[in-house]
Amino acid sequence: VLKMTDLDLKGKRVLIREDLNVPVKGGKVTSDVRIRASLPTIQHALEAGAKVIVMSHLGRPTEGEYADEFSMQPVADHLAGLLGRNVNVVKDFRAGVDVAEGELVLLENVRFNKGEKKDEDELSKAYAELCDIFVMDAFGTAHRAQASTHGVAKFAPVACAGPLLAAELDALGKALDNPARPLVAIVGGSKVSTKLEVLESLSDICDQIIVGGGIANTFLAAAGKPVGKSLYEEDLIPAAKKLMEKVSIPVPTDVVCGKEFSETAVATLKSADEVEADDMIFDIGPDSAKALAEQLKEAKTIIWNGPVGVFEFDQFGEGTKALSLAIAASDAFSIAGGGDTLAAVDKYEIAEQVSYISTGGGAFLEFVEGKTLPAVAILEERAK
Ligand code: 3PG
Repeated sequence: VLKMTDLDLKGKRVLIREDLNVPVKGGKVTSDVRIRASLPTIQHALEAGAKVIVMSHLGRPTEGEYADEFSMQPVADHLAGLLGRNVNVVKDFRAGVDVAEGELVLLENVRFNKGEKKDEDELSKAYAELCDIFVMDAFGTAHRAQASTHGVAKFAPVACAGPLLAAELDALGKALDNPARPLVAIVGGSKVSTKLEVLESLSDICDQIIVGGGIANTFLAAAGKPVGKSLYEEDLIPAAKKLMEKVSIPVPTDVVCGKEFSETAVATLKSADEVEADDMIFDIGPDSAKALAEQLKEAKTIIWNGPVGVFEFDQFGEGTKALSLAIAASDAFSIAGGGDTLAAVDKYEIAEQVSYISTGGGAFLEFVEGKTLPAVAILEERAK
């Protein structure tokens, strides 16, 4: 695909689609990982003397309607702080967007525009008319075929990939296409059903898959272990068994249980054979964590998506902590992606030691599943 960094941006109207879909509470941005990840792209365009127009969605508002709670204003304020300059929000881009060379504006939430999610041509063309060059940089939204990610790229005079999108594709490609081995994936989270396709794709390419969270409970059940009242999916036991025949998926030998899902729940360490009918498994135990950490030492590539326990409660966070530290200590090429995973990376302060932190949640998973990302596919088509 064409890259923004290969183009002369001087004096051009450059429309950049970023994924600035960040958590906002009380009018303030509470995690700015995605905003900071987009900064180099925006700064590059500003320094090159472009007239910069940035756009993004925020949350899932009712389409076609303005709603204060989904306004980009808090993001603009935060971005302004990071850039050390004013960032105006353009409420109605159809009334015209005025921006000088080396300056930027942020369009209001693209999901306030009718036709955004349906990828309608009329809206896509209206975006395209704003620019000389369209830059797709929103890796986190590249799995969505919407007007601001996909449609606009059909009609813009020039459509290219921004540096963040390019870096994400490079890093994920490096981990998936021709990885240094052993390749170990860690897949945590609550349900096998939401990650079955990911597990299946990974089982084709990984040397080992480490499972955690509710996902591990289904594998424990598949291995004939008692899981008590734990979250697990009985109907997916056959799928779990099949995966275990294909690739090494060690199940925990010890687990940390609670009797209720709460911040004050008492944590009890048990052998995986001794889980009782009223127990809920909330973490892997220290023996399991130690064994897995040993195995991670051998890994040359690590793909991590999902915590292995309820780490938001400290008493059930030791497993996720131990694996985080093992990843941090490893000299493997490591990639972490997904909202909960990034929260764990933050909590255990390993951001510096992970080789690549992806800004993608759903997009990260779809890429790992081997699916085509429509917003990338259209750039490839345009490059032909
Ligand atoms: C994400 O957070 O995964 C992306 O920003 C996409 O958001 P969406 O799932 O609302 O399309």
